[in-house]
Amino acid sequence: MGPKGHTVVIEPGQVGQADDLEAARVGQERAVPGHESVKPTGSPDQFHAGTEAQVVGVRQQDTCTGAREFIRYESLHGCLRSHGHEDGSLNGSVRDHERACPSAPIARVDPHIAIVELPWFRSGGTMPRHDEPAWRESMRVRFDFNNAMSAAVGAQGLDDREISRLDASIRQAHATLARRRRAGELEWMDLARATDVVREILDFVESIDGRFENFVVLGIGGSALGNTALSTALNAPYHNLLTLTQRVGKPRLFVLDNVDPDQFRGFLRVIDPEKTLFNVITKSGGTSETMAQYLIVRQLLIEQLGDRHREHIVATTDPKSGELRRIVDDEGYRSFPIPPGVGGRFSVLSTVGLLSAAATGIDIDALLAGARYADEICGEPDVWRNPAAMNATIHYLGYGAGRTLSVMMPYGQALKDVADWYCQLWAESLGKRVNLDGEVVYNGPTPIKALGVTDQHSQVQLYTEGRFDKIVNVIAVRDFRETVTIPAGFPPSAGVNFLGGHTLNELMSVEREGTIVALTEAGRPNVTFELPEVNPFTVGQLLVLLEMQTAYVGELFRINTYDQPGVEAGKIAAFALMGRRGYEARRDEIRRRRRTDPAYII
Ligand code: PA5
Repeated sequence: MGPKGHTVVIEPGQVGQADDLEAARVGQERAVPGHESVKPTGSPDQFHAGTEAQVVGVRQQDTCTGAREFIRYESLHGCLRSHGHEDGSLNGSVRDHERACPSAPIARVDPHIAIVELPWFRSGGTMPRHDEPAWRESMRVRFDFNNAMSAAVGAQGLDDREISRLDASIRQAHATLARRRRAGELEWMDLARATDVVREILDFVESIDGRFENFVVLGIGGSALGNTALSTALNAPYHNLLTLTQRVGKPRLFVLDNVDPDQFRGFLRVIDPEKTLFNVITKSGGTSETMAQYLIVRQLLIEQLGDRHREHIVATTDPKSGELRRIVDDEGYRSFPIPPGVGGRFSVLSTVGLLSAAATGIDIDALLAGARYADEICGEPDVWRNPAAMNATIHYLGYGAGRTLSVMMPYGQALKDVADWYCQLWAESLGKRVNLDGEVVYNGPTPIKALGVTDQHSQVQLYTEGRFDKIVNVIAVRDFRETVTIPAGFPPSAGVNFLGGHTLNELMSVEREGTIVALTEAGRPNVTFELPEVNPFTVGQLLVLLEMQTAYVGELFRINTYDQPGVEAGKIAAFALMGRRGYEARRDEIRRRRRTDPAYII
């Protein structure tokens, strides 16, 4: 170890240069460009649990020899405290570190050294709470499946033995997903670890800070639903109605997700193109709806802004292929890549969802930290400890028993569009004609979105007294951001005044309880995801839990979760009918088959 009073500083993400190591050995100080504020932190003896991190490198225990010789560049604060190392040193394995501090992945490891990137350190900040183990635990999304069990709902419920009988299949599904992930086939599972993408997005958002009043997503399906879900969940209610000051300078968000001419024209009438940034999002790069939106907007921008129109378009698409990528290359638009292996409905945590989220002020670091936390939780192969695997099991077994409808019912307006996003995820992933062996199975549980308490006065009657074909997924929010007290009634009325002095928070909660009790007493299986509060960390968790649940069910059904031939067929038909070259034969075939008998039109 170098002499006391000296600490070596290494640029985040870099390591292992021979002279750095040498400098460390002899205890020299080294400057870090762009980090003037970084000061050597003094003697290693001054480190102790709770020391704020000052420097970014960590010399790790020699992983080959097991030797404990290390030179400490840093106190990793919470990460190390979580290991109980009083002296602030890191001598666990790389895996231990990643588990304790997933938001600071080890960037590079050589036999002697590991360097840990601390994004918050770069910005000169302190460790965010989402890296503190105790806070993360307090923000864990809990999954309660009591009411899916026969003890609660009788014949429609499951018993422990049924679940345990599926154990081998779940473990197999878990192993398959892990293997495919390692082989790079399931890139969506690693989106939350792409810290370089976050940095690129935040840099871009900073570069446009204050320039645009409106951020408009041109996209459809998986290239739009996640954007809406994130905004509804994590921006202030009625974000678009707030003043610029109330929005702290952040733009309004509009996600068009359709090609309705009345809506589209109406929308273009109410925004000022000069103050608007359009984000064209399409993975394939050629979806008719999205590209039609783009062409209309481009023309409008050219008419109004001339050559400056390009500054108002940013594209999010495949890094190499597709029409939009070609257009980006020709036009020179700013663009963000969607990782090639990530399909629309699994792309919310990629550049697809993150750009509009960051632009409107959502903390995407915390969102991804929550996503990584859920990923850790789902690393558990035991179905009894893995909420995504358990809900997959409940739905899979339920489907076999005729419970073919999956209702997603958040009790919280903020999560309304998460239910919408879930419906697409579930429907497109699981609705498949053939299984992996090519057998025709016509598979697919049907998702339904509902909203508590609104749909208590619309759909719950059906859920409690209709057919026994549903599993209701409730999403509960323990603590809302606001507390709203109900004043005493006027004029005095016993039938109304009992509400006075209570809060809307209590009312929301008892209404939810009421629905759960009614469903359970009527023998209707239901499960509850409980979010301690709605924040980026808990929403990131929820999204990954639902994605993982979908992936597990897809494995259990033995279908291809990631393709969408039915959607593609519709896209091809649209190309053909809109006169795209190369699709003439298909157009003729569609026209030939089209039969409209006036007898059937009344
Ligand atoms: O999930 C999917 O794959 C689809 O819903 C797509 O997101 C949707 O069809 C839009 O496709 P693209 O992003 O290629 O324009």
